[in-house]
Amino acid sequence: MSIACYENLSENIVKSFKLDTKNTSYVIGVVDEEQFLGHMYYGARLNDYHLAHILRINEAPFVPTKNNRDRGSFLDSFPMEYPAHGLGDYREDCIRIETKTGNMGLSMNYISHKITSGKPALAGLPATFGTEDECSSLEILCEDSHTGLQAALLYTVFEDVDIITRSVRVINAGKDTVYLTKVFSACLDMDNKDFEAISLHGSWARERCIQKTPVGHGKFSVESTRGKSSHQDHPFMAIQTKGTTQECGEVYAMNFVYSGNFKAMVQNDQFDQIRMVMGIHPDGFKWKLNPGSEFQAPEVVMVYSDEGLGKMTRTFHDFYRNHLIRGEYKDKKRPILINNWEATYFDFNTEKLIAIAKQASELGIEMLVMDDGWFGNRCDDNRALGDWIVNEEKISGGLKYLVDEVNKLGMKFGIWFEPEMISPDSDLYRAHPDWAIAIPGRVGTRSRNQYVLDLSRRDVLDYTYESIAKILRSANIEYVKWDMNRELTDLGSAVLPTDQMGELYHRYVLGVYELQDRMMKEFPYLLVENCSGGGARFDPGMLYYSPQIWSSDDTDAVERLRIQEGTALIYPLSAMGAHVSDCPNHTVGRVTPFETRGYVALAGTFGYELDVTKIPAEDRAMIPEQVAMYHKYNDLVREGDYYRIASYSENNYYDCYGVVSKDKKEALFTFVQVINRANYHSRRIFLKGLDPEKRYAIEGEEGTYTGDVLMKAGYLIQNPWGDFKGRLIHLTEA
Ligand code: DGJ
Repeated sequence: MSIACYENLSENIVKSFKLDTKNTSYVIGVVDEEQFLGHMYYGARLNDYHLAHILRINEAPFVPTKNNRDRGSFLDSFPMEYPAHGLGDYREDCIRIETKTGNMGLSMNYISHKITSGKPALAGLPATFGTEDECSSLEILCEDSHTGLQAALLYTVFEDVDIITRSVRVINAGKDTVYLTKVFSACLDMDNKDFEAISLHGSWARERCIQKTPVGHGKFSVESTRGKSSHQDHPFMAIQTKGTTQECGEVYAMNFVYSGNFKAMVQNDQFDQIRMVMGIHPDGFKWKLNPGSEFQAPEVVMVYSDEGLGKMTRTFHDFYRNHLIRGEYKDKKRPILINNWEATYFDFNTEKLIAIAKQASELGIEMLVMDDGWFGNRCDDNRALGDWIVNEEKISGGLKYLVDEVNKLGMKFGIWFEPEMISPDSDLYRAHPDWAIAIPGRVGTRSRNQYVLDLSRRDVLDYTYESIAKILRSANIEYVKWDMNRELTDLGSAVLPTDQMGELYHRYVLGVYELQDRMMKEFPYLLVENCSGGGARFDPGMLYYSPQIWSSDDTDAVERLRIQEGTALIYPLSAMGAHVSDCPNHTVGRVTPFETRGYVALAGTFGYELDVTKIPAEDRAMIPEQVAMYHKYNDLVREGDYYRIASYSENNYYDCYGVVSKDKKEALFTFVQVINRANYHSRRIFLKGLDPEKRYAIEGEEGTYTGDVLMKAGYLIQNPWGDFKGRLIHLTEA
């Protein structure tokens, strides 16, 4: 068992729990007569569990029962496992309530625990999973004796993959109703090691740029209150020791399995102690807990690496590929798709789509995806969301006819929906204006001229599900792009009672999960690609429902290098929606070689987003070759270990990354020279992840090299003439 409990470790440590993965340990102590829960250790694996000294419990004046005169000093410095609000710990807290008397303070102290094999599901929420052989769980039940509020802290240890997950279930075991106003899912307290924080920030079409920030005294947070995980900040935070590289240095990372409002924060306190927390954003959150009721907070996935960022990345990739992503396509090559969004926008009909499909099928493309604009009166993005009825003026002959025709070409058919929305100019809104999230009497804030459906309502949720399921049942549809194009504002529900309005943000997210869950169950063969105005909901929560997510509306090959680097910091390449599009690029106006666009898209799910009947003949001629490359390399890209060699966002000139097969017999490295520089030699790059002993042949070249030569002495890329030039370096064991 990878979880052990030790009793009476020292005078003041009543109990301790040691959670071990192959390379990491996590230790929790139960302290003092009052049974405070202290965080003792997280880091490289320890052989011993005698860590009593770490809690400084005997350092005056910090023993709480022995020195109650200065209890505050203890509370404000002790490394807490799950800090609560308002009794003397002035660092960021994890749980806060409002009682009927308006009080907020509480303290979560140990009362019992249980250790089990496997991992329980989290009611209504996406979560990672594992069999009884793959993981074991510890649940520590804590209680605030004053109010009777309990918190069940759940830890699951995935021993072989070096992952510990955490979540919290709050139970009102008291006699009175309380309001939960804050509940974070994880906290890590430790001494500072000159940490810097890593976060992913961005904007529309510029998602997940890697940012490193020194952790000075005070607080640094990333957060979303937009109702979704957002383009702007990402539900991920890591702290790394200064100077950490891809190979060296310590990294502590947290990633939130949730798609709504979140907050991740690192704080450096007066004693140079670090606290790192993550959970649902407390702004706009207030959950009514009647006696006997519970609230399940989402899960945080934690990774510790003492071999730099590269190891952290590969740990996340393996974990998500095997313990989060589900469904038919989990381990499968995805069909190469062509999406008509950048090809036609709203200006399409059956004839145009069939023409694109016909040409695409001849080039080896395997699926046509019909994007926004096929339903109701949707001639532009100002109307018709909610009217999920095929527009037969555009789709003449009907949807089934179109799908059948596409199938006859040997292609699959996919469709776009934006199920969570309602346009003010729609039949649905005219019939049910109260179905939109809105504040009564206030003119709602429109965004892309649309409102958000109140998915906290059972009637709205059931109607929404039926309206999309009806379409999916009507023809041989094998793929769904599930889009979501605005933020939540004007939080108000026509049916939630006043004292439960603070539940709307979270209930909305639960509604989205329920819809996607129902769709997965009724149509288990579907390939689902989540999307949100590009990559505004690229998070582990959505990955539980779809094996791939559209990374960004920016399809420019150069911008994509940065976006895909940030995305791949956490998420496997198999999940990263990436397409070749036309030039000048529709977002940035840049012209890059078609060949390079193909190389960059090969790092993701691969597809096309252009009118294949209109692109230059020489570009079109390259498609069969790209299709062949996809088929040749995709198993490796999807399943291999990812290595970052050089980052264009750091060096401003070139990018290089690679994937190496688990048995190290094959590898594919991608090099893109973004900007050429005058009078330079060939570029020497140091490959990574190879077997130093193995001898490798490089496709298209004479001779062989050992892995250690390629990694230590390097490989030379002859300086390609011009900007935006790419190369693939394919290695196989000789
Ligand atoms: C935003 C998506 O990211 C695009 O790919 C496209 O589907 C549009 N929405 C359609 O409105």
